[in-house]
Amino acid sequence: MLKLKDVSKTFHGKENIDAVKHVNLEIQEGEIFGLIGFSGAGKSTLIRMINLLERPSQGQVWIDGIELTALNEKELRKIRKKIGMIFQHFNLMRSRTIAQNIAYPLKRRTFWRKNDPEAWSKNEIQQKVAHLLKLVELEDKANAYPSELSGGQKQRVAIARALANDPKILLCDEATSALDPQTTQSILKLLKQVNQTLGITIVLITHEMGVIKEICDRVGVMEDGEIKELGNVVDVFADPKETITRNFIATTSNISKIYELVKQRSEITVLRPGERMVLLSYNTINTNQALISQISRDYEVDANIIFGNIEVLQNKPLGRLVVIFSGKEENIASAIERLKAKEVKVEEIETW
Ligand SMILES: Nc1ncnc2c1ncn2[C@@H]1O[C@H](COP(=O)(O)OP(=O)(O)OP(=O)(O)O)[C@@H](O)[C@H]1O
Ligand SMILES: [Mg+2]
Repeated sequence: MLKLKDVSKTFHGKENIDAVKHVNLEIQEGEIFGLIGFSGAGKSTLIRMINLLERPSQGQVWIDGIELTALNEKELRKIRKKIGMIFQHFNLMRSRTIAQNIAYPLKRRTFWRKNDPEAWSKNEIQQKVAHLLKLVELEDKANAYPSELSGGQKQRVAIARALANDPKILLCDEATSALDPQTTQSILKLLKQVNQTLGITIVLITHEMGVIKEICDRVGVMEDGEIKELGNVVDVFADPKETITRNFIATTSNISKIYELVKQRSEITVLRPGERMVLLSYNTINTNQALISQISRDYEVDANIIFGNIEVLQNKPLGRLVVIFSGKEENIASAIERLKAKEVKVEEIETW
């Protein structure tokens, strides 16, 4: 559906800035792909190169088998209709009503194609706008102005407008960053619905891991213009390889608190002789706490769970448990081996 081949972007100024460096990326039809990274990582630059709002300094962009980087402006304008985009600050036209904002891309299309039989009639536009307003649940706001709407409602209008031309791809640049958590949830739900019912491929960028976790199938972690880690959301969450990814995951889990407690020499992290503290991570269906109690029985070790975080991602439980094992040294070692054999990741937590 979408392919970036060795795409780079350098901004030339007083200093040259390599905003995006040699990115290769393929996104499948119907996928929700998330791109996460801290400010300045190059996320916006990368997403803007998908519809060539930003021209790559190097590399090729393909959509549906067509190389966008080889098209002229006229051809590009045509194909851009297949790519909708929404932004953090909604970018609505203040002096136009909600209905007029949504109708804008359709009117524009009519304007560009004056003698075109495919141009939209007034009636058709009206029907389309009504349909889109219904989709985003804002039927009663057709004649309101953007200033009369909440942030979440404005983003719904922006989504309706982005869908006006029946795009195949929707690009979302920090679409929920200006919204409170609850409104964020409702916008993410709408995006998921758009993806599932209309089959629209979604590429979204965010600096919040929670957003990725909520709706993405795959995630790319961006740092310093490069995609440092890429994979299925569940896999990346369960077994992050890069420090940058770990840092992002730490922001959505309470498990990282344990390291602070260890540093502070908190009482609960002080081990008695023979005890070992480990972080267990798992993402397989058949692994749950029963495994821990079973191992505890089989190897005669005590397992004290002092921290736990279990969530469901893409219908799979993803667990992280901090456990203190106590018992005979060799028994603890065997218990840990058994856990590893059951595809539980075991990391020793060093204490004082
Ligand atoms: N038009 C431009 N001219 C010059 N430099 C730019 C331009 N756009 C972006 N940059 C630079 O490129 C780098 C990447 O910027 P970009 O906006 O892509 O980051 P981002 O990951 O989207 O960050 P944020 O989360 O803050 O939106 C930054 O160093 C930025 O200053
Ligand atoms: Mg940005």
